[in-house]
Order: sequence, then structure tokens, then C-alpha cells
Amino acid sequence: MTEATGKRSMRALLRPRGDDAPLVEAAPGLTLAAIARRFWPRLRPVRGWLLLVALLLAAGPAIATVEVLLFQRLVDDVLVPADPGPLLWLALVYLGLNLASGVVSGAEDYTSTWVSQRFLVPLRRDCFARVLDQPALVSDRRRAGDTLTRLTSDVSAVESFMIGQFSVGIGAVMRLVFSLGALLWLSWELTLLALLVAPLFWWAATALARLTREVSRERRRRGGSLASVTEEALGNVALVQTYGRRDEALTAYERQNRGIADAELVGSRVRAVFLPVVDLLELAGVLLVVLGGVWALSTDRLSLGGLLAFLTLLARCFGPVRDLADLVPALYSASAGVERVVELLDAPAETDPPGALELPRSPVGAHVVLAGAGATYPGAGAPALRGLDLELRPGERVALVGPSGAGKSTVARLLTGQVAPDVGVVSVDGHDVTAVTRSSLRAAVTLVHQEQLLLDASIADNIAYGRPGATPEEVEEAARRAGVLDFVRRLPDGLGTRVGPRGRSLSGGQRQRVVLARALLRDAALLVLDEPTTGLDAATAAALLDDLLGAPGQPVRDPRRTVLVLTHDPLVLERVDRTVVLAPAAVDVEPVVAGPVGARP
Ligand SMILES: Nc1ncnc2c1ncn2[C@@H]1O[C@H](COP(=O)(O)OP(=O)(O)OP(=O)(O)O)[C@@H](O)[C@H]1O
Ligand SMILES: [Mg+2]
Repeated sequence: MTEATGKRSMRALLRPRGDDAPLVEAAPGLTLAAIARRFWPRLRPVRGWLLLVALLLAAGPAIATVEVLLFQRLVDDVLVPADPGPLLWLALVYLGLNLASGVVSGAEDYTSTWVSQRFLVPLRRDCFARVLDQPALVSDRRRAGDTLTRLTSDVSAVESFMIGQFSVGIGAVMRLVFSLGALLWLSWELTLLALLVAPLFWWAATALARLTREVSRERRRRGGSLASVTEEALGNVALVQTYGRRDEALTAYERQNRGIADAELVGSRVRAVFLPVVDLLELAGVLLVVLGGVWALSTDRLSLGGLLAFLTLLARCFGPVRDLADLVPALYSASAGVERVVELLDAPAETDPPGALELPRSPVGAHVVLAGAGATYPGAGAPALRGLDLELRPGERVALVGPSGAGKSTVARLLTGQVAPDVGVVSVDGHDVTAVTRSSLRAAVTLVHQEQLLLDASIADNIAYGRPGATPEEVEEAARRAGVLDFVRRLPDGLGTRVGPRGRSLSGGQRQRVVLARALLRDAALLVLDEPTTGLDAATAAALLDDLLGAPGQPVRDPRRTVLVLTHDPLVLERVDRTVVLAPAAVDVEPVVAGPVGARP
């Protein structure tokens, strides 16, 4: 067989039958050395303990080897001469060794688990921190299911790579060293004979390693895809049902599921080809030694007990050799998960610009200026916002109106620093928002998102989230101002009622009032409300706006707070000081008209 046909047949073995593309891109590949270098510093706190694990891993095989040598004495001194004399002391030593090996293996198990967890807990925390630090725009694009897989099984793969496989490797080497030492001591000629098959083992191992790496990459990626499909369907069961798309959802799920099955089958085909080869080599080794053993017995180079001990020890060598042969594939297999963790850890994070200043806390409402500000989303062809000029004076209440897609929510993202302007400047109290710390900017600017973001907690907890340390009275006051108290009276647990995942047990309008209460409690110098009356009936909306902005003609001005409302709602426009019209960026190539406008659009 030429090299080329060999490669082709291996590829055929590797080819999954399904041809569906996975939903999740494969992470960039890394060499084993690069992975080890990357995570080595993380081992620092446990290096000493790893040494202890290694010592315990050595003690186990040492005891086991002595046990086999005792077996030789048992055969040669007790069984062959049929003399029960030495049996007592042999039995006592056996018992002692057994006890010691129990203690050693228990200690090893506990220590290695402890070391693994000490490595895993901070790693998992850092990965999760990275998820939290991702710019919202980036994390919105990432599939939650895939991220979940990275945080759980892929992080475990890092532990397996750095610690689990280290234990396996050390354990195998130690078992091999002691067994081989005893073998050499019993008969170096037979040992050399047995070693003849060793190079063949390594050939099988490297071939297996190459194939396993590909297989496990595919399996990991499919795992992420399956989690993504599942997560998407779970989040949208109602949509799937009401639009009768059950079969499509099931098909999408099944497709990724089959992808996993295919990857598993490829792995099984690889094993099916290589494991029997390894078995065969093992048998060849034993047969060779039995042949040599006959010669050794006949020439009196070895006693019967010695030969039996030799064969026992030899059988014990194959396990560790297999473990070692499997070590490289196992490392490759884990590396597929590690790569996904590294990709997560290296993802861009929201960081303060170098030399960022603290935005000082303003005693009055924020003074906001957008000067020719424009923004373009990453990957978008056209800017979402072009050259907007807008000034909000402290305490002013301004409405920004414009058709859907004009860039209203983009203005909100500029003000909270989620998006950086690509042209022009956005400033709060004279400070460029791109030059101040994220935390101080967010303390100054409160945004009520267009999507109602609620935690699966009580209504009171959801409101209190706006300001840690708020007293129950302050929470209740915010709830009253946002009209939450009006509907919680009818709820069994009042403010203590849980809202369910994403607030699903509340109506849309009730959810809106809770998120407004949360924003009011926050008490920031600039309050940005993105479509605050979504989902509210006219009467409720009017009552809410009366509380928030005052009734038409009777403005409620809070000098400590500047309010920007992004809306279409005429009810809002009656209650603000000024309305600014935003023309859509996509159609308007000229700089956007934005200025004081008396009339509503
Ligand atoms: N995360 C994003 N990535 C890429 N493009 C985006 C993103 N968010 C918004 N856009 C695009 O930017 C433009 C402005 O969107 P924006 O959400 O600011 O509009 P809007 O005025 O708030 O609309 P609506 O009234 O419907 O809420 C739209 O064309 C939209 O497609
Ligand atoms: Mg919007």
C-alpha cells in the first residue's frame, strides 16, 4: 500500500456520513505545547500538591510489584515444595501490603480530586467572567447553548489536559518503571524479547492520535451545535407551537443529533480498526515470552515461580503501555475542548480605555452632547446612525423620534458606551464617553432597554437590582412611581411574587412597569428610556408618564435627572420639553436633520 492510498483510506474512515454543516464554527487549532504553555501558570498554586499526587502514584505500583514478587516466593517456597512453613509470614506481609495499597490509593484519589477542583474553580470563574465582560453586541451574537458547553464540558477538558492526563501518564510510567524493573531483575533476556513488540505499539498509537484529534474536534463542535439548537427551541416553545413548526424544530434538533452520532461512529470505526491490532500485538508479546520461558526453565535461568511472576508482571505492562499509547490521543481529544475555552478566554472584552477617567458624579442632571455622532455595527454594510447633533441640557426632558430602524436604540447604545461612535463625539458633562471608565459611565446613565430584561426573581428583587443596598421603602417608592403597586396588589405575594424566567408570568405591560421601576430606583443623572410605553394601554401609559414626566402642560421636572425618551408614542411627545426628529440613516445620505422641532412628526 502506498502512502497516498493509506492516507485516502484513513480519510474515508474519518468521513462522517451526514453532510449537514454544524452550526458552530470550529475554534482555531492549537498545538499541544501551546496549550501546555498557556495553562501552565494556572497550575502554580497546585504544583506542590501535584508532586504529592505523583509520589502517591508511584507508591501504588511499587507495592503492587512487591506483591507479585511475593507471589514468586509463594510458588517457589510454599507450593512447589508443598511446605506450609513460610506461609504465615507471607500471608502477614501480603495483608500489610494490601492495607498500605488501600491507604495509598485512597489518598491519591482524594488528593488528585482536590487538585483538579482547585484548578477548575478559578478557571471556570474566569471563563464566566469573560462571558460577562463580552461586549453585549458580541455576546448577543454568540449562541447561548454553545457558550454553555464551553463553560461546562470544555472547561473540564482543560482540567483533563493539564491534570487528569498528567495523572494517567505518571501513573502509567510508574507502573511501567516498577514492572519493567522487576522484569529485568527476574530475567533481562526475556525482557528484551518482550520489548520486541514495543515499537509496533507506538506505531498504532500515533496513527490513532492523528485520527482521534479530528474525530473529537467534530464531536465537540457538534455538541455545541446541539446545545444551540436546543436552547433556541427551548426559548421559543410557544412560537414553535403556535406557528406549527414542531416538525422543523425536531428536524433541526435531529440533524445536529445525527451529526454527533456520526462523529461517535467515526470514532468507533477508528477504535474498531486499531484496538484489535493492539490486542494482537499484546498476544504476540506474551507468546514470544512463553516460548522464551520454556527455554529459560529448561536452562534453569528461571524458577517456575519466577516465570509465573514474569508473566504476571508482563501482563501488567500492557495496561500502562496502552494508557501511554492512549495518552497522546487523549490529549488531542481534550485539546479540542481546550481550544474552545481558549477562544472564549481570548474573546474581546469590554475594557476601560487606557488612562480612562472617572466620570464625576453630577449633582444635577447630565449635560449630554452628541456632535456629528455616527455609528456602524461590526459587520454591517451601512452606518446605523449618521452625524447626529443633539444636546440635552441638565434636567431637560427630550424625546427622540424617528421611524423604526432610524437608529434610536443605537443612540441609547452610544450613550451607555455599548457602541463607540465611528464619527463625531458623544459627551456627558463634557467628558467623551469613550474616555471614561465603563463603570462610572454606567453609574451616570441608566438605560431602560427596549427588550424587557427581567431576572427570574421576585418583583422586589428585580426592582432592587437597580441599586444594590436600596431599602425596601425606596424599592416600594420606585414601584409606586412606575405603577407597579397598582397591579401587584392583585398578586398573591405582592412585591414578593416571582416573575418566572424572563418575567414570563407577568403581562407585557406589567413587565414594562417593573423595568421602569428598576431604572427609577437607580437614580442616574441621565435616564434613557427606549420605547417606555411598549405594551401599555393608553390609560396605563398616561398614568405612568404622568408619574415619570408629568401630565401634559404640568411638567414634573427633576433637576437631578436629564431624560431622553426614544419613542413613537404621541403620549410621550405631549409631556417632554422638546422633540427631536431622527431621519433614518440608511435612506438619508446627507447629515441627519436633528434639532428642536415643535410639531410631532
Ligand atoms: N446589533 C446590531 N448589529 C447590526 N446591526 C444592527 C444592530 N442593532 C441594530 N442594527 C441596525 O441598525 C439600524 C438602527 O437600529 P436601531 O435599533 O437603532 O433602530 P431603532 O430606531 O431603535 O428602531 P426601532 O424603533 O424599531 O426600535 C437598523 O438598520 C438595524 O438593522
Ligand atoms: Mg429601537
